[in-house]
Amino acid sequence: MCTSRGTKRRRGLAAAALLLPLLLAGCGGAQNSLNPHSHASTDIANLFWWMTGVAFGGLALVSGIMVAAWFRRGRSGTAAHPGEEGGEHLGNKVVIALGIVVPIAVVCALFVVGDTLIIGSTQAPAASNGRLTVHAVGHQWWWEFRYEGTSADTADELHLPVGTRVNLVATTADVIHSFWVPALNRKIDAIPSQRNEISLYANQVGVFRGQCAEFCGLQHAHMGMLVIVQPKAAFRAWLRHEAADARPPTAPDEQAGQKVFLDGPCSSCHTIRGTSASGFVGPDLTHLADRTRLAGLVIRNRRSDLGRWIRDSQHIKPGNDMPDIALTGTQLRDVVAYLESLR
Ligand code: CUA
Repeated sequence: MCTSRGTKRRRGLAAAALLLPLLLAGCGGAQNSLNPHSHASTDIANLFWWMTGVAFGGLALVSGIMVAAWFRRGRSGTAAHPGEEGGEHLGNKVVIALGIVVPIAVVCALFVVGDTLIIGSTQAPAASNGRLTVHAVGHQWWWEFRYEGTSADTADELHLPVGTRVNLVATTADVIHSFWVPALNRKIDAIPSQRNEISLYANQVGVFRGQCAEFCGLQHAHMGMLVIVQPKAAFRAWLRHEAADARPPTAPDEQAGQKVFLDGPCSSCHTIRGTSASGFVGPDLTHLADRTRLAGLVIRNRRSDLGRWIRDSQHIKPGNDMPDIALTGTQLRDVVAYLESLR
């Protein structure tokens, strides 16, 4: 008997130990709405903690009353032993106060705080309220970022200047996606034929992770993005560079790679500004080598991974728009050399 109880307890502890890392996996890291880096996300996190605190307070109160009722169960004046009118009267008062008045007061307070105070910092920006407008276009399954008023067009990595109000306009090239960077603000949907806007204001330099938050097909989970918040001068330099055309290749293998890229199927889907490649199915590759990750953050931006991606992207991210491209070993090496020269 005793051994069986001990075994059960050990099994319970083992299950808890296995589940704990899964529960805690959402904590910490660069994609945590409880680790805010803007005024808006601080308000959202504070609202969460207040709601959780009040909910736990309510749970403690109800549990306390249940325990008290258990210990008083044999006494007269309870429902099971009616006798004292005063006890029943007190019971009714407790039910009315804690069961009706307090919940209505708490829900009203939440409504007032949420719909008057917090919505003020998280709502869509007023027209021309930002110093900079960035268009985030959802694609199955990657994010395109276009900087209004410039030619800069990049993918999966959104650069922002610190301490600057940025209007982000979310749209989509295909199905509904949802733009969400938990450290900076709430999520907004990217809906066909509609512009949804949100204000992003990062109060600290850093790298934050975002994620498509609306199921959008097979690779929805592999539709991540990085938000790289830079000092203002560094951001301006980055944007100037990003808006410029690609530098012509210099090394012989890069030149050969460019020829393969422009003569083959690559250029019908991708743009490289400054060349004849002007496709728009896949990401703009003008400054591909500046990015740290590719394919919705699935692979690192290095020669070996890029080579694997070009040769067999369907194995890495099944269902994506990139076909397997038949290149000889030399052609593949040259194309990778060319693309990795696009700084
Ligand atoms: Cu895009 Cu989920």
